[in-house]
Amino acid sequence: MAIGIFDSGVGGLTVARAIMDQLPNEEILYVADSAHSPYGPKPIADVRAYSLRIMDWLVSQDVSCIVIACNTASAAVLRDARERYAIPVIEVIQPAARRAASTTKNKRVGVIGTLATINSGAYQDAFLTTDIEVVAKACPRFVDFVESGITTGNEILQTAHEYLDELKSSEVDTLILGCTHYPLLTGVIQFVMGENVTLVSSAEETAKDLYHLLQTKQILRTATSKPHHRFIATGPTTGFELLGLRILGTEVEAEHQIIGEQ
Ligand code: DGL
Repeated sequence: MAIGIFDSGVGGLTVARAIMDQLPNEEILYVADSAHSPYGPKPIADVRAYSLRIMDWLVSQDVSCIVIACNTASAAVLRDARERYAIPVIEVIQPAARRAASTTKNKRVGVIGTLATINSGAYQDAFLTTDIEVVAKACPRFVDFVESGITTGNEILQTAHEYLDELKSSEVDTLILGCTHYPLLTGVIQFVMGENVTLVSSAEETAKDLYHLLQTKQILRTATSKPHHRFIATGPTTGFELLGLRILGTEVEAEHQIIGEQ
């Protein structure tokens, strides 16, 4: 049984990459909802409907569990995805928030993400029962930069300053990269935030949660044959080549498939 991973598009390959690194024997069925991508600027109710449709389909494909790689989708379905399905569902917000909570020393955590993620308050809510202060900032243009292959240079540096200078002066000592695309901007984000700020990647933390789940439930893949991964796009398959190469180190061929009533 494969692990079902879904994202609005190709950015979730950062999560797939972290999973392949930590769990190299697992098979992956990856769905990019490129028919509706990007999710970030859309109303959260729409993102919820799209996400449930993709997850229903993944369940129909007999996956062993679902990883919601997209932060915006996680924010949209956080409350009910687990109750809806008989199989385990892992999302990206709780693992990242837990890591940030155990990392911060001065109890000030920053979080950056898409407009929908930040406006939903999902990350902020994850710290409600703690004494940690959360400073949140939407950084919508970061996604466009990554999708055009720009992760270094003056233009992205200037944008990073525009988004992050305020966060830096609010003296957070930990910053959650709350978007699939941001691990590719680690260099420029760390440069602007300074060395004393610890960056928490929701992709890495989610892969660790998945490891924990598969190990404790004893559902690790035992076959010794090379895992066969499948990549599906509900809309255009473009972007897989560029980001596939950049993130997975190999070109990815995506199959186009219409899922539900698009
Ligand atoms: N995958 C989205 C996220 O992690 C970013 C791209 C989008 O806006 O769809 O929030």
